[in-house]
Amino acid sequence: MSTTASTDWGPALEDALFLTVAHRHVPGLPARRAAPPRGPETPAEVQALCDDWVRTAAHDLFIVQAVARAMHTVFAEDPHVQLLLSRQLGDDGDHAVEARRHLWALRGSDPLSEIQRHLAEHWARAGDIPFRGVAGFLAFEFHYELYILARMQIVRRTARIADTAMKDFAESRIRPDEAFHRSQIVGWWLDKLQAMAQEERARFTREILAQDEALQQRLNPFLREELADMARVYGADLAEAHAIYDDWRRTLLAKLLDTDASALGALTSIVH
Ligand SMILES: [Fe+2]
Ligand SMILES: [Fe+2]
Repeated sequence: MSTTASTDWGPALEDALFLTVAHRHVPGLPARRAAPPRGPETPAEVQALCDDWVRTAAHDLFIVQAVARAMHTVFAEDPHVQLLLSRQLGDDGDHAVEARRHLWALRGSDPLSEIQRHLAEHWARAGDIPFRGVAGFLAFEFHYELYILARMQIVRRTARIADTAMKDFAESRIRPDEAFHRSQIVGWWLDKLQAMAQEERARFTREILAQDEALQQRLNPFLREELADMARVYGADLAEAHAIYDDWRRTLLAKLLDTDASALGALTSIVH
């Protein structure tokens, strides 16, 4: 068993961990991309990028709503966690605002109703898991903030196309904000886990695994669709993305539950 200190968590640890995982499946995946992606060149490519901004806005707005509900329910008596989550809520809200503004400028009309349709699908999939106690909330955070990093990391290294008009916002805001959300939630959780007595730790581990598995099963068709979209929209090489995702999730869960990856038993695969 290797214990990860809560203060160690950050982009350096995540990047190294991701490359270790990815190289088990794609030995030649570069640590850094060789050439920058190009901007969209055809109306179809612009349209595909727009569709992805709609999905991004819905994803961020879903996080805002889920976090807000958890603050009022699971963490109603916990001002420390409320303060911690308020940064995530504000940042992800801002990401959704910028995506909406960008779409509105490109299309000439407010994309909110389309964003709302995707948002309703997020709620239909996740149900009450994000505010089903601390374990459900953590499963939600793990899926929506941490496991998602597998596809982001692959796209970052292999995409041939990018929305160059949003490059500055993506690099100076979205990427550092998301890194902060991950280190904040993981730091809080690892400190909490380390302070638990053996029995409580075992119970929490079981509960988180059960909620995490339930969410994996509910999200699977959507996650596969998202990966296929990333390949189509960005020209990214996602051929091994299913295997990398499964391995990444198991590797992270082992770190987050402070156990060996092999001790986690069988986990639901993204392909099931
Ligand atoms: Fe975000
Ligand atoms: Fe976030």
